[in-house]
Amino acid sequence: MNYKIIKKDGRAKRAELTTVHGTIQTPVFMNVGTVAAIKGAVSTDDLRDIKTQVQLSNTYHLHVRTGDKVIREFGGLHEFMNWDRPILTDSGGFQVFSLTGLRKIKEEGVYFQSHIDGHKIFMGPEESMQIQSNLGSTIAMAFDECPPHPATRKYMQDSVDRTTRWLDRSRIEMARLNSLPETLNKEQLLFGINQGGTYEDIRIAHAKTISAMDLDGYALGGLAVGESHFEMYRILEETVPYLPENKPIYLMGVGTPANILESVERGVDFFDCVYPSRNGRHGHVYTNYGKLNLFNSKFELDRRPIEEGCQCPACKSYSRAYIRHLLKAKEMLGMRLSVLHNLYFYNTMMEEIRDAIDNQCYGEYKERKLAKMAEGQS
Ligand code: GUN
Ligand code: ZN
Repeated sequence: MNYKIIKKDGRAKRAELTTVHGTIQTPVFMNVGTVAAIKGAVSTDDLRDIKTQVQLSNTYHLHVRTGDKVIREFGGLHEFMNWDRPILTDSGGFQVFSLTGLRKIKEEGVYFQSHIDGHKIFMGPEESMQIQSNLGSTIAMAFDECPPHPATRKYMQDSVDRTTRWLDRSRIEMARLNSLPETLNKEQLLFGINQGGTYEDIRIAHAKTISAMDLDGYALGGLAVGESHFEMYRILEETVPYLPENKPIYLMGVGTPANILESVERGVDFFDCVYPSRNGRHGHVYTNYGKLNLFNSKFELDRRPIEEGCQCPACKSYSRAYIRHLLKAKEMLGMRLSVLHNLYFYNTMMEEIRDAIDNQCYGEYKERKLAKMAEGQS
């Protein structure tokens, strides 16, 4: 077994997932590099300095540009990016569904148009697994439909049933690819994705069905798509107990620091979200006393780092005033420093979360952290 629970504190799990690209300490926040780059001119060397354990990239984006076959020929995504630690690739389903314009969902898969040049593309479970196999990622995600919110019960049930059939096809294709001699990463892991929106009975029935498939991990998809945070937490409370306890649990696309703190308490170990990088690019930076907007004129002459005591590359060398100036001048360095700080903030919070579970004081830590962040600062 490559997933080992080290400690539990209530439902919060402190675990390790061992992969061919190294061991992941969970709970973990995966840093989002959709097109094999973290937006904001962040290099893989930077990532090694800001405690990044896992990078996330996207099947669809790399398929349409530069092409998974090119990356395969180069030696895979790890070689291409010069990153030897774990990479998780999302399956493409979600990204295709968030594209506007023409797309058609059929039993065999999805027909849609490239957002780059409009050419017609078909992607089904087999294509998604082949692309992810070409990329050679550490963890591949099953091909799923992320249903819109709200969706009718009928739409949801039909969609979840198709996602189950797609999962079965994903699993069969991944097993086939992993058995081929020419495959780049024959140990590629496959995570299944639970869907069902906010219909708890559909979620639970689906969780039971996919748990029987003995996958390497289980994700919850279709959350943080417009439902309230309260509903998302309720779905986690109701669904996670029906997923295998001895497998990693991944909450896709989530979220704020508060969302992560609450979800860890409900049994989640993997997270990913564009917030820290996207907010950083817009000058919104996280601190233990709440978020700051560096565009605010009150920082014009502020000599302090973004956060006192922060060991990130931005805070070690630069003032709020200077980073504010760079952002206002639209200098790339302003975005870069803000993104580095935000990712460091998230990755450091995950380290604190792991320590708190190790020390059996997770609830206390969470309350303290949330109260401090809500306090705000001058
Ligand atoms: N990212 C955020 N939500 C989802 C989802 O439901 N499915 C997939 N594949 N990726 C996601
Ligand atoms: Zn910092």
